[in-house]
Amino acid sequence: MRKPILAGNWKMFKTVTQAQSFVEHLQELNEVPAEVEAVICAPFTSLLALHLALKDSPIRLAAQNVHQAEEGAFTGEVSALMLKDVGCSYVIIGHSERRQYFGETDESVNQKVQAALAHGLLPIICVGEDLDQRNQGITKQLVESQVRAALAGVKPDDVSRLVIAYEPIWAIGTGQTATAQDANEVCAHIRQVVGDLCGAEQAKRVRIQYGGSVKPENIEELMAQPDIDGALVGGASLNPGSFASLLRGAA
Ligand code: G3H
Repeated sequence: MRKPILAGNWKMFKTVTQAQSFVEHLQELNEVPAEVEAVICAPFTSLLALHLALKDSPIRLAAQNVHQAEEGAFTGEVSALMLKDVGCSYVIIGHSERRQYFGETDESVNQKVQAALAHGLLPIICVGEDLDQRNQGITKQLVESQVRAALAGVKPDDVSRLVIAYEPIWAIGTGQTATAQDANEVCAHIRQVVGDLCGAEQAKRVRIQYGGSVKPENIEELMAQPDIDGALVGGASLNPGSFASLLRGAA
């Protein structure tokens, strides 16, 4: 009942020309299976060009961050309304790189989630532990508190439409993936927390992705897990051929 969702997070890669050429190559490959929701999370500068290039495509567009205010004197920031205006359906909120390098907190993540939803943008909320926390055995506890904080005050029906990405920080860009079973265990715990907060029906509907060194070679094993509904992919999403393989693997 949950449609798999495969999102490529380009991070700070690709100019507008490179983004357009990615879409042209992907379209030549003709590999977007109907069973999977495909999302490209691009830098702000490429969003409008991608929106135009993807107008006849089922591929959805996402931004990688949003400001929580409606508008105002916040130099360098972008609002949810602006993202909606350039064709975004989703926005990544609380990626560990934003928490680590840009002072993103559980509180700002929650404010951003509310701002996105208020403008019809669906958040992809990122949570996950670092290596120290994993070694201390507090992964589930940590992830649970991030999920509870991110979803505070969010209506249960909105929760069932958004996406939660479990990304262990030690697995991001390292080539070190969590085992499919370990990843599933944390995703199952996240679903249980959503159930606690919003009810069993919403927990059944919410989509939970795994992220952290996902590649064409391991996507199928991850997707075979009952509580993993998709992946948030960095490095392996940058090449159209590899993105197409990931989409096939997620179908
Ligand atoms: O948002 C994506 C994640 O940070 C994963 O990145 O696939 O390069 O490990 P990665």
